[in-house]
Amino acid sequence: MTDKAVVALRKFVAPEIVFGANALDLAGQAVLNLGGLKALVVSDPGVVEAGWTDRVLASLDAAGVEHELFTAVTPNPRAEEVALGAERYRAAGCDALVAVGGGSPMDCAKGIGIVAANRRPVLEFEGVDEVAEPMPPMVCVPTTCGSSADVSQFAIITHRAEQRKIAIVSKAVVPDVSLVDPRCLSTMSRYLAACTALDTLTHAIEALVSLGASALTNLHAMKAIGLLGQRLQEALRGPELTRLDDLMFASLQAGLAFSNASLGAVHAVAHSLGGKLDLPHGECNALLLEHVVDFNFDAAEDGYRAVAETLGLEVRGQSSARVRSALVGYLRELREALGVSGALEARGVKASDVRDLAATAMRDACLVTNPRRPTPRDLEVVLELAL
Ligand SMILES: [Fe+2]
Repeated sequence: MTDKAVVALRKFVAPEIVFGANALDLAGQAVLNLGGLKALVVSDPGVVEAGWTDRVLASLDAAGVEHELFTAVTPNPRAEEVALGAERYRAAGCDALVAVGGGSPMDCAKGIGIVAANRRPVLEFEGVDEVAEPMPPMVCVPTTCGSSADVSQFAIITHRAEQRKIAIVSKAVVPDVSLVDPRCLSTMSRYLAACTALDTLTHAIEALVSLGASALTNLHAMKAIGLLGQRLQEALRGPELTRLDDLMFASLQAGLAFSNASLGAVHAVAHSLGGKLDLPHGECNALLLEHVVDFNFDAAEDGYRAVAETLGLEVRGQSSARVRSALVGYLRELREALGVSGALEARGVKASDVRDLAATAMRDACLVTNPRRPTPRDLEVVLELAL
C-alpha cells in the first residue's frame, strides 16, 4: 500500500492551523491578518448558548474588527439558509467570514462565501472544482470532534426541493485559518460527542481505503485511527468528557486525511439519508460504517488490515475472513458501547425509502473514491442491513 501511494502524484491542501488552549481567542487577530475589517460570524443557537460564540465576538471586538452575527443555521444546513446569510453578508458590508460551531455553521459559512464571491445560488456549485472565484477570507473555530469542515475542501448543503444533500468539493472552500481549541468540546452532550467521534473514525477509515489516498493522507488517517482506538471509549466514559485534546487532535488528523483523499460509500449514503430525512450526519455514518466495511473489504484488504491492527485488534497472520469479521464486529460493538444503538427504522427510515436513498447515493461525489464500485442494488443491501 505505502509504496504505490508514495509514487502517486498527489496534492495536499491545508489551512493555517493553530491548535491548543484558548486558540479561539486569536479570531480577531486572524481576521485582521487576512485584511478583514467586518466579519459575518456564522454560528448556531446551541453554540451561542454554550458561550463559544461570545468568546469569539469578544476577540473580534478586542482586535477592532466589526461583526454581524448570523445564527439561522439548522443541523443539516439548507440552500435557503445560505442565501439568507449571503444577503446578510452583502447588506452589512462584510469582507470576511468567521464560523463558530460544528459542521453545520462551517458548511453554511462556506456556502455564504461561495455565493458572496460568485454571485450565483449555492446549488449551482455541486461537484468537484466547480467554484471559480475564491471565498472571502475565512476563519473557523470548530466546536465538535467531527465534520472537520475547518480544514476540508468539502461543503455539504441540503437541496430541500430534491430532498438530498449536495457535495461541493474544491480547494476554494478550504478556510484560511482554523483555530482548534479542544476545550470547545467540553460543552457537547455525550451523545453528540459519540456521534461526531464516530464521524471522525469514518473519515479516517474512508480516507485510508480511498482510491484518492496517498502517503501524505495515510499518515494523518493512521494517526487518527490510532488515537481513536486507544482513547475513544476512555474519553467518552464517566460523568465528564475527558481527553478532549486527543479527540480534537484525532478529528483534525482525520480531516486533513479525508479533505485530500476524499471519502467513500458511507458518506455517500449518509448524505442521501441526511438529505431525505434530515437525520444527524454522525449518527448516519455510525449506523452504516460496519456494513460498508463488510461490503468493501475484499477490494481494500490491506487498508482494512492496517485499520484493524491500528485499532489494536489481534489480527496478524489471520485469514481474510477472520480479519473482516473481527473489524466489522469491533465497529458494531464500539458503536453500541458509545450509545449509538438501534437501527435506521427506529429513526424513521422505511423499507420503501431504500430504493430512492440508494439511487441518490449513487450520484454523490464521495462515491467516486470508494474502493469498490457498487451497483444501486449493492447500496440498497447496505441500507437494508442497517434498517
Ligand atoms: Fe463526515
